[in-house]
Amino acid sequence: MTAFQQQNGALHCEGVSLETIAREHGTPTYVYSRSAIETAFLAYRSALNQRAHLICYAVKANSNLAVLNVLAQLGAGFDVVSVGELERVIAAGGPSEKIVFSGIGKTRDEMQRALKAGIKCFNIESEAELLALAEVADSMGKVAPVSIRVNPDVDAGTHPYISTGLRENKFGVDVDSARRLYRIAKDANGLDPVGVDCHIGSQIMDIAPFAASLDCLLALIDDLGTEGIFLQHLDIGGGLGVHYDEVAPSIDSYVSAVSERLADRELELILEPGRSIVALAGALLTAVLYLKPTEARHFAVVDAAMNDLLRPALYSAWQDIQVVTPHDGEIQSWDIVGPICETGDFLGKGRELILAQGDLLAVMGAGAYGFAMASNYNSRPRAAEILVHGDSSHLIGQRESLSDLWQREVIPPEPQT
Ligand code: LLP
Repeated sequence: MTAFQQQNGALHCEGVSLETIAREHGTPTYVYSRSAIETAFLAYRSALNQRAHLICYAVKANSNLAVLNVLAQLGAGFDVVSVGELERVIAAGGPSEKIVFSGIGKTRDEMQRALKAGIKCFNIESEAELLALAEVADSMGKVAPVSIRVNPDVDAGTHPYISTGLRENKFGVDVDSARRLYRIAKDANGLDPVGVDCHIGSQIMDIAPFAASLDCLLALIDDLGTEGIFLQHLDIGGGLGVHYDEVAPSIDSYVSAVSERLADRELELILEPGRSIVALAGALLTAVLYLKPTEARHFAVVDAAMNDLLRPALYSAWQDIQVVTPHDGEIQSWDIVGPICETGDFLGKGRELILAQGDLLAVMGAGAYGFAMASNYNSRPRAAEILVHGDSSHLIGQRESLSDLWQREVIPPEPQT
């Protein structure tokens, strides 16, 4: 089952027409299918059922409380990268003991809060960070479970902005440094080395780089074993790509390739998938404000913009754009652009579509890194978010109001003369 299908001449999410959603909630609006999120999560779970594992959903992909709650109910763990994400998971009913904390710049305050909450593991990315965590934990009389993020120097073959496993990237430490950090962790009062992790990038369309980095981590685990450092888990990160314009490897084939390499080792396998759980479960609904055919290009100006969905502008990402209620007319090549005052503000270029003013469009594959990366640029309120389940839909994120835009701002008193 795909989450979005044409039924009776109009695009639906599960059993709910997108036209109805637009009528009730306006546009731009994000629409997510609960079943699609569940199906993707369960695909991971069933592929992993032969071995000890924890699927830590990467909260950054879509951090709406309702989405986190759906996953928490299915028993997911969570990968967070800030105290904001940590608090979101807790607010959504996610268990602290299933949280791993990634990211290269955790502050001491963030470490403290995570230690208090009792998270599963800190994924550490530098010696300085490791030493800071040791101090913080020690001062609280706690022992922090740690994993060292290894940078395996593997090319994930993805967009340079979301490639993270190369030596020149800011992430992780090389294998030799990792060995040294494990020795420090073993000897420090406030630290307990429990795992090893990596994350080589996002929207990865080939399984080979995952296998290469896994081999690197396994060799390190064996090495550490000879020094009396025994790790309990291996965290392979996230990064599996989805089908935007190219067919992606299935969750099943990816997990099988990873599990095979672990064979009968008694390691708990942790994964941090974000995109592959939520991307295809979401669409961004937007209305055509004006058609503006020019001699050079045909522009369809829509009411969603790069502040709502940044991926096309930032990574030249391609996402399918469909007319919600297709109608007769002449097919033309359209650039789908937003109202923001930047030439980079587009959702799609050269799309062969039959369009009329007022049409509703759906930008597909928008469930991951869509709303999560939205901003208020050009003083545009952020969109509404809807979760569909069967024939019912729920508002899970209110559209921001205009006064929300400046609620945190203050005009200082006039200077006294
Ligand atoms: N774990 C870590 C440590 C990460 O940094 C990320 C993503 C993930 C897991 C989840 O990766 P995923 O399974 O979603 O590929 N904004 C970009 C994607 C940035 C990914 C950043 N890190 C985009 O829209 O394509």
